[in-house]
Amino acid sequence: MNVSFTKYNEEFLAKSYQWLSDAEIKYLTNTPPITRHSQKEWFQKLPLRTDYLIWGICKDGEPIGAVGLKHIDSYNRIGEYFGYIGEKRFWGMGVGKLMISFIEAKAKELSLSTLQLVVRTSNHRAIHLYVKSGFAVDNHSSNEPSDFITMTKTI
Ligand SMILES: CC(C)(COP(=O)(O)OP(=O)(O)OC[C@H]1O[C@@H](n2cnc3c(N)ncnc32)[C@H](O)[C@@H]1OP(=O)(O)O)[C@@H](O)C(=O)NCCC(=O)NCCS
Repeated sequence: MNVSFTKYNEEFLAKSYQWLSDAEIKYLTNTPPITRHSQKEWFQKLPLRTDYLIWGICKDGEPIGAVGLKHIDSYNRIGEYFGYIGEKRFWGMGVGKLMISFIEAKAKELSLSTLQLVVRTSNHRAIHLYVKSGFAVDNHSSNEPSDFITMTKTI
């Protein structure tokens, strides 16, 4: 499968606005409301940030999504995986597995030892992928009923 990970540039920024405006993707990724202006401000600050990294995903050269690490904490050697395929026709084709492998390699380059992620309990496709990729439900997660679970993987 010809999938590549590349610099998250203005083209991805414009696509992300469309992708994250889609109600289903917005819900699954728990994205807060965004405007073009807030998105642009966020994009301009990206190069200055050490706690956040994002890459664009291409399939046969076409932008299809984004993946990254947030809350990077070098002292505690932990970071939070996030990612989405915005072009829905590419869901369920194994791209998700490649996204996790890519981020795992990046996390190792950063000398992180733990990957964490937060996922909706109703997002069965994503949870299936995460379990298959070696993530387990974090036992330290709150026992309170919640729409979200935290999962971790030691890398
Ligand atoms: C989550 C996401 C990145 C997964 O990527 P993907 O390329 O679609 O996933 P993959 O094809 O690699 O793997 C999906 C797995 O889940 C399985 N699956 C698909 N639908 C499922 C469902 N409803 N219930 C359980 N498992 C399901 C697939 O069979 C596959 O498992 P397999 O490899 O054992 O056959 C992608 O679907 C996506 O971007 N979804 C929208 C945004 C989102 O949910 N992001 C994650 C927020 S935490």
